Amino acid sequence: MIAVEIIKTVKEMQKHSDRSRLSGKTIVLVPTMGFFHEGHLSLMRKGRKIGDDLVVSIFVNPAQFAPGEDFESYPRAFERDIGLAAKEGADVIFVPDEKELYPDGFQTYINLEELPKHLCGISRPVFFRGVATVVSKLFNIVKPDIAIFGQKDYQQVVVIRRMVKDMNFDIEIVDVPTFREPDGLAMSSRNSYLTDKERDYARSLFKSLKTAQTLLKDRTNDASKIIGAASRIIESCPETVIDYISIFDPETLVDMKTIDRPAQMALAVKIGKTRLIDNMRLRS
Ligand code: PAJ
Repeated sequence: MIAVEIIKTVKEMQKHSDRSRLSGKTIVLVPTMGFFHEGHLSLMRKGRKIGDDLVVSIFVNPAQFAPGEDFESYPRAFERDIGLAAKEGADVIFVPDEKELYPDGFQTYINLEELPKHLCGISRPVFFRGVATVVSKLFNIVKPDIAIFGQKDYQQVVVIRRMVKDMNFDIEIVDVPTFREPDGLAMSSRNSYLTDKERDYARSLFKSLKTAQTLLKDRTNDASKIIGAASRIIESCPETVIDYISIFDPETLVDMKTIDRPAQMALAVKIGKTRLIDNMRLRS
């Protein structure tokens, strides 16, 4: 049996972290919403390498879902997740329930002014407020030295880094490359929603990013031309609706017209009922 401690309350978690810090351990936090795949596990592996006390949180955060989004149906597999996290060497799994993090009377939220006005923030207006709020709470509860996030959710990492700077959290943010299926599809808990056909169409996301990179290498540096080519790849698949495809400054997220320096490309596409995102750094 692999020993992993399961903690459900804020008080107990804070006590654990105080003891850990006092004994000189480096605490690493991997925040998640569970239903683990290799992407999540790669974050834990990184955490195991760079810290002494690896805390994995599992909490499907209602504050980052808008009404009508998939909060209720979001996939959950708690027992399986515990086994997987334990196998990766997690020391603690923090699984608060909703009342523990959002007790009656809760009314304080973290809002960023500019970053959520771009990309996913446009079609998901409460998303980053929910993410920033829950992550800042987890930071105060777990008191990590280091927190690990995936590049898969590019805008999320940019938001968290900004929040850490602005709010003076004494925490190092580490990001980990996107873990992909052999055909390039970025791993995501939401991939489980896809039918076989939709799974096939989902390959177009990575394909369009790769095509963009190839066009740039072939000296097309007009962002609108590259976005046009990427759109055509996605639109050639039935049942796909593009939410956005953007090429933008990697830090401010502001659109770039000409790619004359490293740029980030990101896209969100609905395939059937499932919304998928992906992104890639573009280098000429
Ligand atoms: P979740 O979607 O469960 O993702 C947890 C972490 O795993 C995030 O940092 C995400 O970027 C990372 N991740 C997901 N898929 C990945 C992949 N294919 N490769 C590498 N990393 C991947 O993101 C969230 O949860 C939530 O918004 C959270 C930060 C926990 C706040 O509620």
